[in-house]
Amino acid sequence: MSLVGSLRGQDLTGLIRSHVERHHLLIAEEEGRLAGVIAYRTDWFQCTFVSLLVVHEKLRRRGVARALMKAVEEMSLGPRLFSSTEETNSVAIRMHTALGFVPSGHIDNLPQGYRELFFFKRLR
Ligand SMILES: CC(C)(COP(=O)(O)OP(=O)(O)OC[C@H]1O[C@@H](n2cnc3c(N)ncnc32)[C@H](O)[C@@H]1OP(=O)(O)O)[C@@H](O)C(=O)NCCC(=O)NCCS
Repeated sequence: MSLVGSLRGQDLTGLIRSHVERHHLLIAEEEGRLAGVIAYRTDWFQCTFVSLLVVHEKLRRRGVARALMKAVEEMSLGPRLFSSTEETNSVAIRMHTALGFVPSGHIDNLPQGYRELFFFKRLR
């Protein structure tokens, strides 16, 4: 829980609990260690939306995020997959591009103080 609990200083307990209850949370594990977590929802404007993706700091750049995203793609009910990240998160922006997402707008005026960039991937 500390892996995701510390993300951007947010308290993610509620988000995690609601996704666990709906079975929309996948965990990657490596040799018994928590390697990464992805949470998603399928009721976002009738599309799939990735609401959280975080990989253990020591296990990054080894394809964990790629594998988690692929798992969500395979479980997605519809063909439209969305995801988002803050405009300051250059690593996440690069990751989305590398995984085949294209930019799909942004939201201003969020409490985080930065623009949230959205990404889209057509699955089929
Ligand atoms: C963003 C994050 C989830 C990526 O996880 P990861 O497991 O390291 O990513 P992967 O190893 O699957 O990388 C997939 C591709 O993304 C790109 N990428 C990932 N990390 C990168 C980095 N630090 N610099 C440049 N490109 C990067 C690469 O193209 C990579 O493919 P390659 O290694 O074959 O070149 C991870 O850095 C993280 O948890 N960051 C903190 C939380 C966060 O920002 N979450 C994203 C919010 S949406």
